[in-house]
Amino acid sequence: MGFQILHFNRVTSTQEIAKMILKENVVIVADVQTSARGRYGRSWISPYGGLWFTVILKDRKENIITLAAGVAVVKALKNMDVDAKIKWPNDILVHGKKAAGILAEIYGDYLLLGIGINLENEIPEEIKEFATNLPHIEKEALLPLLLEILEKEIKKEKERIIEEWRNYQCTLGRRVLIDEKIEGIAESIDDEGFLILNCNGKRERILAGTLRFLDG
Ligand code: BTN
Repeated sequence: MGFQILHFNRVTSTQEIAKMILKENVVIVADVQTSARGRYGRSWISPYGGLWFTVILKDRKENIITLAAGVAVVKALKNMDVDAKIKWPNDILVHGKKAAGILAEIYGDYLLLGIGINLENEIPEEIKEFATNLPHIEKEALLPLLLEILEKEIKKEKERIIEEWRNYQCTLGRRVLIDEKIEGIAESIDDEGFLILNCNGKRERILAGTLRFLDG
């Protein structure tokens, strides 16, 4: 398959450019994004120095592909000696802080897979408590490696993707709070990527949400 990379200096959001281009297997990369977004409409700070891109895919299952993307980011970072892990569903943590995020948006028949990785960009003081960067990683080296791994990961069977995800996560077995509302032990993820929470013996199946660790 192979991806075709389109590079921009400054865009609003690579997700928005992707919507205008809508061509399968094209990757939109930008040096700077002026109004990038994260999950749940949050903003994503994207100054110069980070790796900000969107992969345009077609007819893909959002849940499973975002898990595969998380696995690909972790594998690529590990390849560069960074000890990264996935916090459900797809936050990439390094030493317990978020270094990368993944946003999958359905647009018609397309799946726009947006990935943001903090590299040389400065992390604003107000989010330093929970966000980090990887200043020694070069985006010119990371992007091709990550795309090569991603291409392989998204071709895998769903069961295999889930198995890989389990190998690279740091969520299962921990006490967590979802959306500041539902508390329980993160027991497993099922074959659709839903988180199975054990809330005092009662099982809850969680499709999506913001997870906070309660056990440190
Ligand atoms: C999150 O963790 O909330 C997801 C963050 C996703 C950020 C990336 S950067 C490239 C792409 N363009 C955007 O506007 N967002 C995604």
